[in-house]
Amino acid sequence: MSAPERIPPRGVTGPDGLLTVLAKGSLTVRGRVREASNAVLYCGIEHDGVSASCVYKPVAGERPLWDFPDGTLARREVAAYEISEATGWGLVPPTVLRDGPYGEGMCQLWIETAPEGPDAGLLALVEDEEPAEGWKAIAYAEVGEGRTALLVHADDPRLRRLAVLDAVINNADRKGGHLLPAPDGQLYGIDHGVTFNADDKLRTLLWGWAGEPLTAEAVEVLARLAAELAPGRPLATRMAELITAAELEALRGRVAALRETGRHPEPSGDWPAIPWPPV
Ligand SMILES: Nc1ncnc2c1ncn2[C@@H]1O[C@H](COP(=O)(O)OP(=O)(O)O)[C@@H](O)[C@H]1O
Ligand SMILES: [Mg+2]
Repeated sequence: MSAPERIPPRGVTGPDGLLTVLAKGSLTVRGRVREASNAVLYCGIEHDGVSASCVYKPVAGERPLWDFPDGTLARREVAAYEISEATGWGLVPPTVLRDGPYGEGMCQLWIETAPEGPDAGLLALVEDEEPAEGWKAIAYAEVGEGRTALLVHADDPRLRRLAVLDAVINNADRKGGHLLPAPDGQLYGIDHGVTFNADDKLRTLLWGWAGEPLTAEAVEVLARLAAELAPGRPLATRMAELITAAELEALRGRVAALRETGRHPEPSGDWPAIPWPPV
């Protein structure tokens, strides 16, 4: 037998093959990601001679939060992957729920970022009053000594898709460090534990398109999502195992609201709209 093959994120085996590796492979914990707020374990995974790297976040290592029921973050991460796949945009790395050395948890393919690192070229703080061509304004930020700067993100179609996904999944924590550009040009979003709350909690950096009409592509995707989330459809059935009935109803409501307005949402005003620190 030849040596285990190292597979790229979107390798020859395709996302389905990777899902099998993630779901069935044998997991070896190699280290702990230190800057994480929950237990995030960097692991090797191997199945049928195919090996990959992944993160394993055991439910037992989830830090309790006041506004999300205990022990549900791993499931929300899988639910975010399900919705990302349903959009066809592939914005969330393959993610499964499975048992591991510290009990049930989520397992997600590890994405090697481009050498420039997370959010490279996607976010910036600038001195100007207006964003330059190719950039969108997020907010003014205090940068010390009474000076303010303008926080901007790139006017990038991949980010725009992610902004739509975040509105759909009600992402309460889209920071710069959760944007992973892969060397092949694909952009991935990670860390979807605080999503799908029944209350509006959208907190993100990607406000650059707030109030602007959705792209034709997004409108199409939302129509498809609405159909696939109808009661009894396979996606709805899978989602019902991951989030509560009330949260699934709220998800349908957000898709319907986006289709009705046809616009990117604007901050609601009763929840801090921007994660702090932003990276
Ligand atoms: N799928 C992944 N691919 C690459 N790096 C990851 C992945 N998931 C997590 N990481 C790294 O681990 C860090 C902590 O993970 P994160 O999901 O943000 O955990 P937490 O819920 O504790 O904030 C991330 O900031 C990132 O650097
Ligand atoms: Mg994080």
